[in-house]
Amino acid sequence: MIHIVGAGPGRADLLTVRAARLLARADAVLYDRLVSPEVLELVRPGAELIDVGKNEGQQEQIQATIYVRLEECASRHETVVRLKGGDPMVFGRGAEEWAWLVERGYEVEVVPGVSSALAVPALAGIPVTYRGLAGGFAVLTGHRQNGTCTQWAAYAHVDTLVVLMGVEHRAEIAACLLEHGRAADTPVAFIENGTTPRERVVLAKLGDVAQGSTRVNAPAVMVVGECVRLRSTLLAPCISRMVG
Ligand SMILES: C[S@@+](CC[C@H](N)C(=O)[O-])C[C@H]1O[C@@H](n2cnc3c(N)ncnc32)[C@H](O)[C@@H]1O
Repeated sequence: MIHIVGAGPGRADLLTVRAARLLARADAVLYDRLVSPEVLELVRPGAELIDVGKNEGQQEQIQATIYVRLEECASRHETVVRLKGGDPMVFGRGAEEWAWLVERGYEVEVVPGVSSALAVPALAGIPVTYRGLAGGFAVLTGHRQNGTCTQWAAYAHVDTLVVLMGVEHRAEIAACLLEHGRAADTPVAFIENGTTPRERVVLAKLGDVAQGSTRVNAPAVMVVGECVRLRSTLLAPCISRMVG
């Protein structure tokens, strides 16, 4: 059996109990770039730790290598964990790997994880829904942006938009949302390295993001919508934010 496991958004104590138990008895762990060192510390000492993080521009080739490494580990070990950042079924090709393994006769267990799409904004004081302010949300990939705005039309008026992998194309994404009628003064937050000691939050207006005046580094979660304004209230002293 191969276990496809969510590593959560960064902090080790945001792992599921099931994930922590599997890491503690794993023989081999193949992990992605966004899995934090803190989480890797929970892997059983002596287990094989294999970094299969993808680099830009060589994804197909690296994906093929991941499959080879997975099969090779499965032939030698009993407990093989494929560890993926956040939730393994939210982008990152987790479901593709699942299908590939099933096609080859492997038994697969999926262990969901806490996705950065919801947890990173929440811990930065930005809930994706809030009664009277945001009645729904959509989670999108910024990689969908390939020079055409049409794909953003359907989402431009969703109350809260959460964009993963959107840092590189943030200006185009914002411009497309404006083109499809979203107001220029809509608040936007970028949360870099959420839940880790390196977390940094950049606040802006959609119009400014479209102008290219916002400095942001990946990885970051981009949140567009009125709920961004709640941050100043929710992170006031004495509000129960996770600390330490
Ligand atoms: C390939 S997607 C994987 C998402 C992952 N499966 C999840 O559920 O969180 C990678 C993107 O997730 C976002 N991301 C993941 N962890 C993050 C974190 N700790 N802080 C900010 N963004 C994060 C970034 O937008 C990054 O480019």
